[in-house]
Amino acid sequence: MSIFIKNIKKLVNARQQSPASPLRGKEMETLPCLDGAWLLTEGDRIKAFGTMDGTAPETMSAMEDSADEVIDASGRMVFPSYCDSHTHLVYAGSREMEFMDKLRGLSYQEIARRGGGILNSVELLHNTPEDELLRQTLERAREIISLGTGAVEIKSGYGLTVEDEVKMLRVARRVGEETPLRVRTTFLGAHAVPARYKGDRKGYVDEIIRDIMPAVAAEGLADYVDIFVEEGFFTVEDAARIFEAAARYGMQPKVHANQMSCSGGVQVGVKYGAASVDHMEFAGDEEFRVLRDSGTIATLLPGATFFLDMDYPRAKDMLAADLPLAIATNYNPGSCPSGDMKFMMALAMIKMRLTPETVLNAATVNGAFAMGVGGDYGCIAVGKKASVFITRRIPSYEFVPYSFTSQLIENIILNGKKYN
Ligand code: NIG
Repeated sequence: MSIFIKNIKKLVNARQQSPASPLRGKEMETLPCLDGAWLLTEGDRIKAFGTMDGTAPETMSAMEDSADEVIDASGRMVFPSYCDSHTHLVYAGSREMEFMDKLRGLSYQEIARRGGGILNSVELLHNTPEDELLRQTLERAREIISLGTGAVEIKSGYGLTVEDEVKMLRVARRVGEETPLRVRTTFLGAHAVPARYKGDRKGYVDEIIRDIMPAVAAEGLADYVDIFVEEGFFTVEDAARIFEAAARYGMQPKVHANQMSCSGGVQVGVKYGAASVDHMEFAGDEEFRVLRDSGTIATLLPGATFFLDMDYPRAKDMLAADLPLAIATNYNPGSCPSGDMKFMMALAMIKMRLTPETVLNAATVNGAFAMGVGGDYGCIAVGKKASVFITRRIPSYEFVPYSFTSQLIENIILNGKKYN
């Protein structure tokens, strides 16, 4: 199967040299684009791209004639699919009643202390059979595809028992089999202390290491391990124990870090070689210094900051400190019931004053690296997976985050195949 897209108004994030590592600081402000372009796919990969003006007419005709499908993208733009590197896509039901509690003044932590929050989703998930959980998750998976996402990280963490953590991760893997999304999975057993261990957090961490993690590893269900390091949830010491155990199974750390307080999550993540530290609302100069010399990406989740009505991370200072930033949705029922990467980019621009170039790189190139697929996804480059979307007629790439609730996508190609 080959697809030839011609007359592209702008081919966005098109790179001659695909980045070998995440973009950092100032590098994030460059977004290479080609005006008046074409793109050729072959199988599931990008075979070639160039400009209409700079390509001999006979070469153009040959590509057009031999392609299985030709798309005329006149007036329209082609973007690499978004890479959403932090989601909790597998969950049962919804938690809009807690949203009401929040509007009445209860904080996220107060709701959790009353046994709601994550533990509410744990109970809902426990009572939902695997096939029904898959059905609900596939609805969200198809939704995010329609919004431009091509690769996604999915966490467990609403199971908190062997059976239910395994159930969640099986569903996450099945999303990767039943949709064209590239799925990476993360074991987040340490998301909350379950009711049966109330007052005995250490006992639950023992169970994670002794029983749950080995069961997850035995089925090869997780690429990463994650932990919510936060007051009322888990400690830096718990993280060290979990990361040491996970190293035996080849699961690289990620951390829910510094979301509600200066939790030490960034430091412990960097110490254990985390792929990313995510949230960062309470990260400051010391955290930026620790991150600067590491290979760890700072992932911003502005949808959760918005939904919980908090102060935003110091993203511009992070860039000034030469850090690599990714942006992800954090799609989950408690702190961000949205999988819309475009909205996240708009928030990052409006609330953190990032440029459109920076947010587009954070949502593509760096998102891909934050989930270990930077070699295959994240930009338009020869040899990368052909996962792109074609917009409707739009005036500029800035128009995408600007028109933050409009559906601008007309065609989706994932791994070289037309999705719609
Ligand atoms: O990343 N902070 C912890 N986990 C999620 C929220 C999960 C939930 O409330 O269900 C987050 O914000």
